[in-house]
Amino acid sequence: MTALTLSTAGAATLRADALVVGVAKGAKGPVLAPGAEAVDKAFDGKLATVLDALGAAGAEGEVTKLPAPDGLKVPVVIAVGLGSVPEKDEAYGTEALRRAAGSAARALTGSKKAGFALPVTSVEDAEAIAEGALLGAYAFTAYQGGENKLAPKGKKNGNGAKLPLGEVALLGAKPRDKAFKAAAERAVAVAEEINRARDLINTPPNDLYPESFAAVATAAGKEHGIKVQVLDEKALVKGGFGGLLGVGQGSTHGPRLVKLAYTHPKAEKTLALVGKGITYDSGGISLKPAGHNETMKCDMSGAAAVFATVVAAARLGLRVNVTGWLALAENMPSGNATRPGDVLRMYSGKTVEVLNTDAEGRLVLADALTRASEENPDAIVDVATLTGAMVLALGNRTFGIMANDDAFRTSVHEIAEEVGEASWPMPLPADLRKGMDSPTADIANMGERMGGGLVAGLFLQEFVGEGITWAHLDIAGPAFHEGAPYGYTPKGGTGSAVRTLVKLAERTAAGDLG
Ligand code: BES
Ligand code: MN
Ligand code: ZN
Repeated sequence: MTALTLSTAGAATLRADALVVGVAKGAKGPVLAPGAEAVDKAFDGKLATVLDALGAAGAEGEVTKLPAPDGLKVPVVIAVGLGSVPEKDEAYGTEALRRAAGSAARALTGSKKAGFALPVTSVEDAEAIAEGALLGAYAFTAYQGGENKLAPKGKKNGNGAKLPLGEVALLGAKPRDKAFKAAAERAVAVAEEINRARDLINTPPNDLYPESFAAVATAAGKEHGIKVQVLDEKALVKGGFGGLLGVGQGSTHGPRLVKLAYTHPKAEKTLALVGKGITYDSGGISLKPAGHNETMKCDMSGAAAVFATVVAAARLGLRVNVTGWLALAENMPSGNATRPGDVLRMYSGKTVEVLNTDAEGRLVLADALTRASEENPDAIVDVATLTGAMVLALGNRTFGIMANDDAFRTSVHEIAEEVGEASWPMPLPADLRKGMDSPTADIANMGERMGGGLVAGLFLQEFVGEGITWAHLDIAGPAFHEGAPYGYTPKGGTGSAVRTLVKLAERTAAGDLG
């Protein structure tokens, strides 16, 4: 894990492998961002001119490496693009800083220590830079570089993968100031928990299945003082969790329902978080065609986000109770699998006709939502890689927000915006409900194809307890990134929704919501 320090040295005196400065897109060429003064001085005030001559424009994501001149205690200077220069008297946006720090951290793979001299005008800026750098430095290498029988004796095979940046030294933050220290601690906790979620998402499904996921949660609970309860198959049968059991019965790895309870003695509110945890979604008997299942280890991203958020809340000691529910199952076809046409009796008592076994997320979530509702929390938020339709609607980088309460949906959307997660409010049109009418059961698990993401949301709504404020985040697009890395977003699991959920817990603790 990459370390974070608040540097007491200035840019000219810091000993490190590199110094990172910001450069923005000005009307007449690249403009250095505040924080770069000492570095520019070492370049005789010509850094912007040099960058211009090298073709650097200051565009977002642009990284330019330069040999450092005499006068600096580092061998390399990295100029990272921040995008447009802000309007007069305005600061660079926190998301631009977060992304720039992430791009720089990725360019520093293999280095031990780098100073980040990006513009800091507030505690929030420092926190965003720290967060971006720690998230950008992430690498998933657990399955690379092991012993290879064919490699020369004593040599590791490996693929030459270098280690992530070892230490981020933040410049421009006051190292002895309480607020800056707290912001740095928060950035470390949140980034480490996002990286934990990423690790879980990236772990291949032959190693991460409901039982092993539950074991990871149990261990983390012990470490962080979170109460963890695991319902295994036997307990699920006893409790009548027909949704979890129906989805999980085709797999040799049985389903689990994990409850994580973080409590604060002075908490006045309880937030319940429910995560879809399909450790692998083959589609079941309604098998997905080739080309649609290669990345389906990501189908537990919602559960990973919920888990990470509860641990982050515990690490930060938030004055709110946060209960996480992980609905874990593996969706596989087999002689014992649920068939299209089967009817399940859910934990709520409702019956569901399973018309498509690939619409499994809503089945496991339904049971968890009902169970979460029984404890009467002040609000429930579920997070799920639920529908391909949401990806068609909003693309790969934006999650959809649905809710049974307009004000709550707006709050969640605003919070997401604030923490730099792209999202958009979506409706739950009542007319789509009749598409799920079943001649045999109380409801079918599929409805109209058009608006499929909203149909799924309407299905979930039926399993939320009367009068409980609820929001549903469909993160099918942003949960798993298949393209080239950008900013602080790596290939693979992203940890989508964690920053939004942590901020939501903080706002709930502060009494800012409902
Ligand atoms: N896990 C998938 C949704 C998904 C798609 C997640 C793409 C991430 C990326 C979900 O279980 C699913 O298969 N949904 C079906 C529902 C349909 C059968 C009603 C879908 O969206 O096609
Ligand atoms: Mn599916
Ligand atoms: Zn799924």
